[in-house]
Amino acid sequence: MEHKSRKVPFVHLFCLLLLMSQLVFCQLDNKFYDSTCPNLTRIVRYGVWSAINNDTRMAASLVRLHFHDCFVNGCDGSILLDDIGSTFVGEKTSLANNNSARGYEVIDKIKANVEKACPSTVSCSDILALAARDAVSIAGGLYYYVPLGRRDGRTANITAANELPSPFESLDNIIAKFSSKGLDIKDVVVLSGAHTIGFAQCFTFKPRLFNFGGSGQPDPQLDASFLKGLQTVCPNQVDSDTTLVPLDSATVAKFDNSYFKNLVNNSGLLQSDHVLSTDNRTASMVLYYSKYLYPFLKDFGTSMVKMGNIGVLTGQDGEIRKNCRVVNY
Ligand code: HEM
Repeated sequence: MEHKSRKVPFVHLFCLLLLMSQLVFCQLDNKFYDSTCPNLTRIVRYGVWSAINNDTRMAASLVRLHFHDCFVNGCDGSILLDDIGSTFVGEKTSLANNNSARGYEVIDKIKANVEKACPSTVSCSDILALAARDAVSIAGGLYYYVPLGRRDGRTANITAANELPSPFESLDNIIAKFSSKGLDIKDVVVLSGAHTIGFAQCFTFKPRLFNFGGSGQPDPQLDASFLKGLQTVCPNQVDSDTTLVPLDSATVAKFDNSYFKNLVNNSGLLQSDHVLSTDNRTASMVLYYSKYLYPFLKDFGTSMVKMGNIGVLTGQDGEIRKNCRVVNY
């Protein structure tokens, strides 16, 4: 039998040994590419920095892309795969991603630069995890270390992508969805804090402005002047559905705790955000983070690392895609 000889980095060997010892679990590692792609973190950070320099919203879009990747088939880069005619259905046209998820071109550009420096070495899913971290820290959040060594999936799952949490869902449902990924109620609160940056389209919260719960009236819990402003930007007609509104209008592009301050002041944009300040499982955490910036920023990094571990492929599973949009032949 022909045997291809190639260098096996120590970490890979470690994973292999783990697999051989029947342990199917292989941990990610902060230093995974230290010897195989020493410039990786610099290349990714530069790519994210220049993208945000062009478009401040891109910080938010990259964080969300990582979340939507991890919640569907695990953090395997599946969200990055394009549809191919009728032969391959990706996740980009799913309910939550269609005309909403963005940042694919930024990841393409970074991947191209990473491929130049270290061909066929770094997964798209790891690039996305690093890009999300850099986006957070460039937007003003805390830098956290990202364990690496994810491999890219060869499949996508639009059915699961259609199940991504919706802003119209109950908190019970959202908690259950997080819990099914190994994330707890604290993670729900902390990670929702990502809504301190970025934008939402009017249709994602419009029922709160004009017909809350079918009442024909606005949500009585919405702050009156916040409501008035939103009704002006998002009038009750279909052509305002895609108008963008900041998720945190206090500090639109700054990764801080003003999202939680807004919630406490009844000025949370999405219904799924607002409920965090009223439900007795989450209200005290919201209040705490509204008062203390540093604990939020620190806990955010911790929960992002936890989210970044969801269903990862390691060792010999999956592949290292050359192009993040298509699986290798
Ligand atoms: C808890 C359940 C969640 C729900 C129901 C939810 C829902 C939404 C919705 C409806 C939007 C606006 C999309 C649009 O109008 O096109 C949005 C935007 C965003 N979400 Fe979430 N989200 C949730 C959790 C998360 C998590 C866990 C993260 C990241 C850790 C996140 C990060 C973001 C960011 C950064 C944006 C702005 C994106 C941009 O401006 O491009 N969200 N989310």
